[in-house]
Amino acid sequence: MYSEKVMEHFTNPRNVGEIADADAIGQVGNPKCGDIMKMYFKIENDVIVDVKFKTFGCGSAIASSSMATELIKGKTIDEALALSNRAVADALDGLPPVKMHCSVLAEEAIKSAMFDFAQRHQREFEGLKGYQPPTGDEDHHDHGEEE
Ligand code: FES
Repeated sequence: MYSEKVMEHFTNPRNVGEIADADAIGQVGNPKCGDIMKMYFKIENDVIVDVKFKTFGCGSAIASSSMATELIKGKTIDEALALSNRAVADALDGLPPVKMHCSVLAEEAIKSAMFDFAQRHQREFEGLKGYQPPTGDEDHHDHGEEE
């Protein structure tokens, strides 16, 4: 059911932890399962120089956070904002359809953190146009990739 890459990133996740003096923090929750993902970023000249995560969630969410953080490390904010949950799932050699929403959490954690960064520095980013921070009432939120 799970690809070797999913199992490998679940068993040996990269970039787990916190960054004490983070430049941006994103936190999202999945209203369906109650899982929570938090990401911490160090950003210099709009480049993500470090990123760590804590995920209280299922194996697919942990594998997705691990892969997503690997994919955006060293990338610009704009590049990180362009990362879709589909790309994260593809990099993991796929997720079962009922687990695609777990990869959405990773995409949203990145967006939430970049929104935090934008607010702290009064910046605007193309990839955040129309972004609405999670309100806690996300049943109405269209994740696009849900089962
Ligand atoms: Fe909750 Fe995967 S089941 S994020």
